[in-house]
Amino acid sequence: MANILVTGGAGFIGSHTCVELIKAGHKIVVLDNFVNSDVESLTRVKTICVTDFPVEKGDVLDTGFVRSLLKKHKIESVIHFAGLKAVGESVEQPLAYYNNNVVGTYSLLSAMNDAGVHKIVFSSSATVYGDPQVLPLTESHPLSATNPYGRSKLIVEDMLRDLYKSDNQWQISILRYFNPCGAHQSGLIGEDPKGIPNNLVPFVAQVASGRREKLNIWGNDYDTPDGTGVRDYIHVVDLAEGHVKALESLSVGSGCVAVNLGTGKGYSVKEVATAFGNAAGTAIPYIIANRRPGDIASCYADCSFAKEYLNWSAKRNLVDMMTDHWRWQQNNPDGYSDCTN
Ligand code: NAD
Ligand code: UFG
Repeated sequence: MANILVTGGAGFIGSHTCVELIKAGHKIVVLDNFVNSDVESLTRVKTICVTDFPVEKGDVLDTGFVRSLLKKHKIESVIHFAGLKAVGESVEQPLAYYNNNVVGTYSLLSAMNDAGVHKIVFSSSATVYGDPQVLPLTESHPLSATNPYGRSKLIVEDMLRDLYKSDNQWQISILRYFNPCGAHQSGLIGEDPKGIPNNLVPFVAQVASGRREKLNIWGNDYDTPDGTGVRDYIHVVDLAEGHVKALESLSVGSGCVAVNLGTGKGYSVKEVATAFGNAAGTAIPYIIANRRPGDIASCYADCSFAKEYLNWSAKRNLVDMMTDHWRWQQNNPDGYSDCTN
């Protein structure tokens, strides 16, 4: 099988995708600068898969280095996870986000072009739909951005579409993730947020483990069944399997295609807290706080195109997501920095 470069492969979604790629028989090379991850995640991927693969420490912004890797490892396709992802931080440091996410992708694409590598799977986000006008969200919903992080994803999507128009030997898959959570069933790899988690599930996990006192529910006056925000949570292993399908679809023909990866089901903040409490065997204490600026009421996917185009649909439910996330949290209360596990 051809070699695949996985940028950002040490991160949350990248590490799980490495496992599924290896399971499917692919050969991988990881490029990561470890700005938001730990090399331990890759050691554990190797343990899970009982195999070895090259890990290259470096930055996608370094075009020359990426070009040399593509040649050295005879890379045929790239899965591009590397990027910064915190919405609030992107408002405070927009230049860091445009540099890392937009210039970083430009640098990667330039290196790929130079090296004659034209297959890429790109990590986009449901954030490119802005405030949903119609639910569930189909891929043809109008695109907009409400913060620099979202705008960086939209700019890269546009860049990829322009690139394909200019040269249709490119084979591009744009994956729009909904809300990834959960962890590998082994409990060896999972999400390892630095500092206070922004996202709901890792925050709730830390409340369940006693590391944080209570959950702040950001508003209960939304137009949703219980007033709290509704999202489409997707198990990270389902997401990882979607990447394998997307990668394999690239060999079928050229194009630039955007695909939603979600479950199609929305759950409220309260439903998630209850489900996590059930998985952990403890109630999740919470208070109702003010709405978080920029949040939307509801967001969930229409996943019919993923089924049709990739022959992929999510298999794992909310109980699986919470159970697996809790196992990871319990086994690794301090994430990868606690390497005694
Ligand atoms: P993550 O932070 O866990 O992983 C990103 C990885 O990229 C990290 O290992 C980091 O060290 C690396 N990285 C960052 N900048 C780099 C650079 N310039 N050069 C080399 N490596 C670099 O994030 P994740 O949750 O795994 O997300 C992966 C991708 O999916 C990101 O592009 C993110 O924007 C996108 N995404 C994530 C979510 C989510 O909720 N997790 C939702 C939608 C889209
Ligand atoms: N929430 C709380 N308390 C918390 C954290 C979150 O009530 O401590 C609520 C939010 O208000 C929202 C829901 O839980 O209603 C989910 O919030 P997350 O922060 O987990 O996820 P978002 O949907 O806000 O954002 C995520 C990613 C973004 C991405 C977006 C769309 O973090 O990067 O999905 O894909 F852009």
